Amino acid sequence: MKIISISNIKGGVGKTTTAAVFAVGLAEKGYSVLLIDSDPQTNLSICFMQEQTDESPSLYHIYNEKKGIDEIKIAVKDNLDLVVGDFELCNADLQFTKAGRLKMLKKAIRNINTKYDFIIVDTPPNLGILTLNAFISSDYVVVPMAVDSFSLKGVRLLKQTLDDVADETEKVLPVAGILLTRYNSRTNVSKLLEKSLNSAAELLDTKLFKNRIRQAVVLQESQIAKEDLFSYAPNAKVTDDYKGFIDEFLERVGV
Ligand SMILES: Nc1ncnc2c1ncn2[C@@H]1O[C@H](COP(=O)(O)OP(=O)(O)OP(=O)(O)O)[C@@H](O)[C@H]1O
Ligand SMILES: [Mg+2]
Repeated sequence: MKIISISNIKGGVGKTTTAAVFAVGLAEKGYSVLLIDSDPQTNLSICFMQEQTDESPSLYHIYNEKKGIDEIKIAVKDNLDLVVGDFELCNADLQFTKAGRLKMLKKAIRNINTKYDFIIVDTPPNLGILTLNAFISSDYVVVPMAVDSFSLKGVRLLKQTLDDVADETEKVLPVAGILLTRYNSRTNVSKLLEKSLNSAAELLDTKLFKNRIRQAVVLQESQIAKEDLFSYAPNAKVTDDYKGFIDEFLERVGV
């Protein structure tokens, strides 16, 4: 089982989109996958669910230790389960203060009975307790980066956090790669940023994925239609971009 956090403290760079497409792509390859929506905005859950009632069991119940992942997860497709996110978790940093609060998710994952090949965790655009829990649980981080909102400072903060996590867990959490998103081959932005992007990769001790994800409205459309990208737009170029990324990821981590 490999656990992957999708993280960048910048908002709107395609974390949630990548988490959803990545998970469905792996499930379609026949892997058994669990998605965890660890962002109180719950955008990932919204991608898959018609509506969520206040009583629906969610990740919140993991943090307040009322339930385990096996009781909470819902099946959203063949080979793909989801732990839904919860708006209540926007107070998590203040609400959960006891010792061990950084290992709540790790503990819950350890207790899962189902055998998953991959667990993918979507994280919020900050480095609070929810992101730390995701990192401490993970084997890899994938960092989506939008060329139009690139921030080296954000990368430095991420690096600092990964170092803190390494101190806490006494093992380095590798960044599997930086995934360029919202890419537009007609503009020169990514060329101009090439040096900065390479410094970012170097700082995180990783490489850019060769596959990049182009800017494509079909992603937003599929989310509004609550269909996964592979069913909504099987022949779109951006669908191929994501397939390429998934294959490259699997190759990088040696699966
Ligand atoms: N490659 C792309 N081309 C066009 N639109 C995209 C692309 N990737 C994501 N989007 C759109 O951009 C918006 C933000 O994407 P997404 O929610 O995945 O980002 P995020 O990093 O998870 O944001 P947040 O930090 O708020 O959680 C969404 O409306 C999504 O549909
Ligand atoms: Mg998101």
